Amino acid sequence: MPSRTHSGSPYMQFAKLRSEAKYNLASSGIMSYPLKELPVTMEDMEICGPTLYGHAPLVERLAKRNGVTPDCVVTAAGTSMANHLAMAATLEPGEEALVEWPTYELIVSTLEYLGVTVRHFDRRMEDGFRVDPEEVKRKITPRTRLIVLTNLHNPTGALIDEATLRAVGDLAKKNDARVLVDEVYLEALYERRPRPAVHLGDHFLVTSSLTKAYGLSGLRCGWVLANPELTQRMWHINDLYGVNAAYPADLMSVIALDNLERVAARAKKLLEANRPVLDSFLRSRNDIEYVRSEFGTIVFPKLRHGTVDRLDRLLRQEYETSVVPGNYFGMPQHFRVGIGGDPEMTRAGLERLGSALDNLQAQ
Ligand SMILES: Cc1ncc(COP(=O)(O)O)c(C=O)c1O
Repeated sequence: MPSRTHSGSPYMQFAKLRSEAKYNLASSGIMSYPLKELPVTMEDMEICGPTLYGHAPLVERLAKRNGVTPDCVVTAAGTSMANHLAMAATLEPGEEALVEWPTYELIVSTLEYLGVTVRHFDRRMEDGFRVDPEEVKRKITPRTRLIVLTNLHNPTGALIDEATLRAVGDLAKKNDARVLVDEVYLEALYERRPRPAVHLGDHFLVTSSLTKAYGLSGLRCGWVLANPELTQRMWHINDLYGVNAAYPADLMSVIALDNLERVAARAKKLLEANRPVLDSFLRSRNDIEYVRSEFGTIVFPKLRHGTVDRLDRLLRQEYETSVVPGNYFGMPQHFRVGIGGDPEMTRAGLERLGSALDNLQAQ
């Protein structure tokens, strides 16, 4: 029997215990949206309520927003649990998943926890970190049952277009496999967000949440979109974990969705302020290489000289600044910078990053 013993996620332990700093460029999401800005009153709240398989008003809103029927929606504790449910419902221990590389580390940790064999296909920097269906074709095996992608890509912010998703979907279908697309950062395209990949066929599953693009992480409002046979399976798997979400969180998530335009307006304003500052920072440096996405909240530069380990230590010890070292994405010469924070903090953090890079090159 495959073992369920697992040491957890090194990245999540970093994110929880070591990513905090006065100038935090490690976070990939929009800074927290304050409760007082949402029209929530005590009269809207209740501790317990009718929740069996999802809070119906929440499921209905998510279905409408994503152009699917309610039986295609499973609500979950963030994209994290959504990914877990999607993987657990589509894979048996000993089966194989083909995962993009680099990727969000939790995807790999969760697959390993589920006893799944993980293989990778590369998204290469010299190729703009795009998904190349030819590369997927080379790496897929007769045992592959799930292909996993992030769109936008974590750690680079690269967008996967629909033609590429379709090409990967065709490869999966021929192989009797499915495609899971984690779209948590696609939400950061706001009104320009393309339709979720679940519309490309029954063999696609999509996961997402309100955490990254809206600053609503505390609500843990996540979801899976999939065909009804799979959503049934996921609801039943979820019975083994959380059973239900916290009812007040479901109620607040409904209010957040009903007011999402105002929440998005604040997020877009933050990104509109921070994006040009990041762009001029990147253009000013010749000690890093990067692929700049038009979208999203993150960039993943590569250091030309010196080590990211040394840069990280300098940043923390002398500049009160944090980034995510690329070793958490299996690319130790890179580091991830996020721009979803307060504009003044972000500007100061990037200045400090520039000083640390100068200092590093002078050593
Ligand atoms: C690609 C990806 N998926 C899922 C998550 C987790 O999201 P959530 O906070 O919605 O659980 C993250 C968080 O960094 C992520 O980068």
